[in-house]
Amino acid sequence: MVAVLSGEALERFLQEIWGRRADPVARTVIRPLGWERLRALAMAEEVESRLVLESIGDYPWQSLSGPFSAEMLDSLPPAGWTLLLHSMERHEARCAELLTHFPFVPRWCFDDVMVSYAPPGGSVGPHIDRYHAFLVQAAGRREWIIEDVFRSAGGALLLEGCDLEILAGIRPDRLLEVDPGTVLYVPPGIAHHGLALDTVETWSVGIAVPELGEIAEDFIDHVLSEVREREEDPTRAVVSASSGALPAPAKLSPVHQEAFALCLGEVFTSDRIHRWSRRRLGEWLSESPRAASSEGRFHSANEAAGLERLDPAVRCLYSDEPDGSVMVYAEGDSWAIHGRGVPLARALCNLRPVSSSEIHAAGDPGLESLTSHLRGRGWLLGATENTGKTSR
Ligand SMILES: [Fe+2]
Repeated sequence: MVAVLSGEALERFLQEIWGRRADPVARTVIRPLGWERLRALAMAEEVESRLVLESIGDYPWQSLSGPFSAEMLDSLPPAGWTLLLHSMERHEARCAELLTHFPFVPRWCFDDVMVSYAPPGGSVGPHIDRYHAFLVQAAGRREWIIEDVFRSAGGALLLEGCDLEILAGIRPDRLLEVDPGTVLYVPPGIAHHGLALDTVETWSVGIAVPELGEIAEDFIDHVLSEVREREEDPTRAVVSASSGALPAPAKLSPVHQEAFALCLGEVFTSDRIHRWSRRRLGEWLSESPRAASSEGRFHSANEAAGLERLDPAVRCLYSDEPDGSVMVYAEGDSWAIHGRGVPLARALCNLRPVSSSEIHAAGDPGLESLTSHLRGRGWLLGATENTGKTSR
């Protein structure tokens, strides 16, 4: 595991750059996937792929969704398009490993690794993103036009009649030429436009911190299911608040308003909020943002013997509980782990190799259940002890 940023460089990045401006922040070494592999992935049913046709479609900036036929991919002209492949951490071990290069980012904040491929001159147009991105140049050189002023996604002037949210213009405050190995950080709200100078392959690590509205939505859904189960009837409290015959039956009086407010106050209590954050938050954060289309995206189950390591693509988190146990959350499910299983569960979640004999010897049913679930999904990989390098 090699962090692209650590020590003082990481501190400086977090204090001066994160969320503030776009900048090349580090260098790393990644081996590009190359056209033949990307072409095969773009034809696969289980891979989410898009072709952005800048100038060669039925209209400018046409976006087509895959999978694509070999004929279509092989007939692409030498310029004017970009191929995008999403959630590549689920299909390519190398892309999953890239996530481990950013250990300063909480696991539950990773959105996906998107790989883009374009011939010289290709781009996806000037745009702003709603998430933080580390753009790792895998092959070729790209020129980035950066606008150094924040814009809100809703307030930006967009080109009309195209499938993508392309900005009508971008002010070229800075031009940055990046070569293979450069890690360019771009915060949400900063307009950027990357033009391929050569045939380019760029890996983009998207980081999306959950929004308060999304969290509140899940909390409210959770509370609603609890309230509906109890089938409480607020009308009794409201009618009894009227106390006798009403002189003006059409009037919504402060007494009634207060009666409803009291009912709601009993529903949205701080106790419920804390219970939700203790029991449900971990499950919710471990759900993949693209879970709906994640079926069959992972590698097939392996019969790993000896050391095993969690696939970095899996959203697996844990919380230490007051009684010394840990709760492990993976892709929306949860497991309680006790006793000798606790350090092993923590190690597994933190991507350290764990031996199957240790798991067995711990004798914890929760850990057995968790690991057999992970193994069954193909989410545990054979590993070597010292490097944690996967053997697939
Ligand atoms: Fe972008």
